[in-house]
Amino acid sequence: MKIAAVGDVHSPRYLGEFGRALNDCSPPDLFLLAGDIVDQGVPEEFAAVVSMIRDRLGTAFPIVGCYGNQEYTELRKAIASRVRDHVVMLDERDLILTIRGIRIGIVGTQGSLTEPTSWQRRNIPRVRTEFERRARRAESLLQRIRPSVDRVILLMHYSPCLATCRGEPERVVPWTWSRRFEELIRRESPDLVIHGHAHNSVVHEAWIDGTLVRNVSLPATGRITQLELWTDD
Ligand SMILES: [Fe+2]
Ligand SMILES: [Fe+2]
Repeated sequence: MKIAAVGDVHSPRYLGEFGRALNDCSPPDLFLLAGDIVDQGVPEEFAAVVSMIRDRLGTAFPIVGCYGNQEYTELRKAIASRVRDHVVMLDERDLILTIRGIRIGIVGTQGSLTEPTSWQRRNIPRVRTEFERRARRAESLLQRIRPSVDRVILLMHYSPCLATCRGEPERVVPWTWSRRFEELIRRESPDLVIHGHAHNSVVHEAWIDGTLVRNVSLPATGRITQLELWTDD
């Protein structure tokens, strides 16, 4: 199965780069959006990115997304309704798709951070409790979906590990990944974790025990990440 994935288009900031990256991408079986698709939550910019994908690669595959910190909470409903005909947005939700005969369970979440940013401490009430809650919610969704599917994907914005943030400036590293998510991934063993957010990372692939982790942040990779997985299943 061919999976294409990207995060951090921050449209319109990297929309030109995204368009060039699409030239090197062939139509996948599943297209994943790992958050920060827009800057400052503008729904029309999200729709522009989705249109570009459909114009270049066709419409024969599902597009599934999670939100990033640039998809502001108060604008998520507007984004979801703007793109709902073409994209399933997973905001702490799960979805089961059958693709090439494989039942795929996808859990989508923005994720958490090891340390909240100063903006988050000022603006998100009880932010550490909120980060804990998100991790518990993701874990319960992973547990619930596992028995019903052949493969499990955790689609998140923040990184679940330090390894795929290597290259980020030292002072921002606590704001790029979540120890809680790394721990729950060790317990629940999803088959694949896709994330974005780490724009400056120079290591785009890591393993958490048997789980493959890919950072698909466009500014980091310079391309749409294309994975060929589970073909022999
Ligand atoms: Fe970003
Ligand atoms: Fe981000």
